[in-house]
Amino acid sequence: MGQAMIGDSLNFKVKPLTPYFGAEISGVTINCDLTDELFAEIFSTWVDFGGLILLKDQMLTTKQHIEFSRYFGPLFGDPNHEPLQNTVSRYMHPNHSQIYRVSNLVDKAGDPLGRKGAGTYWHSDVSFRERPAQASILHAKQVPNCGGDTIFANQASSYDLLSSGMKKTLEDIFAWHDFSIAARTQYADKIVVERDMHGDNQALHPVVRTHLNSGKKSLFVNPGFTSHLDGFTYDESSVILKFLYDHCTKPEFIYRHTWKKGDLLIWDNRVLMHYAIMDYPDDQGRYMERCTVIGEKPF
Ligand code: SIN
Repeated sequence: MGQAMIGDSLNFKVKPLTPYFGAEISGVTINCDLTDELFAEIFSTWVDFGGLILLKDQMLTTKQHIEFSRYFGPLFGDPNHEPLQNTVSRYMHPNHSQIYRVSNLVDKAGDPLGRKGAGTYWHSDVSFRERPAQASILHAKQVPNCGGDTIFANQASSYDLLSSGMKKTLEDIFAWHDFSIAARTQYADKIVVERDMHGDNQALHPVVRTHLNSGKKSLFVNPGFTSHLDGFTYDESSVILKFLYDHCTKPEFIYRHTWKKGDLLIWDNRVLMHYAIMDYPDDQGRYMERCTVIGEKPF
């Protein structure tokens, strides 16, 4: 057995993924080992390591994936909870309304088995809702031989390293998050549902939010969904937002994940942005299933 690392528990080993954030947990098979006590340890490791944990070789069924994800909180698509989004409803699993399928595969009739090119831009899942996503839990069921990595940017460490002057400037600023930003740039017109462009897909959130579990502050703006800073002109806010995006995507705040079949990756949208790289050809199948946990109103 190797040397114990910071964060090791009685039930698993923990290996950091980068100096700033992320950890691989080994020695756990979710579908066999899961108990309330084990989950509490996984959750605190997730929080301690900046909201990113990897569990390899998890051969979960879709139902087991949903059951595990519910330990984090209610899921988009759960009974009596809001669906993920109308625009992506055709990509939800036909038998499980909680599962968003991300894939370039098609069935025998040529219909997509998931959304191709999902998340190929920096974003934090569902930040355009009053209660954006807490965890996203992505299970890799089929991966390309090469490519299809996902990159993560740490918005908590990058906040910590801002000057005290910039932190003070950002203290009381709010930003609008609006699905129509991504709809215009990332989604083909024909699949954007008109209802998604208005109402509950626009929300005002603090630019700096406080983590419910760790109490730590982080930036909460992203190029995918943040339209502008409240009370600023678009020109003014684009200068400030560009500075923040350049800052939090510096190489030292990035983790790049190369997927293996069976990987279960859990990220915290409250402190991380992510970007799915679509650099693999169509004959290389990629099929992932995602559960998305409904978070709290940012404060
Ligand atoms: C997403 O959830 O934004 C997609 C992530 C991925 O496909 O790697």
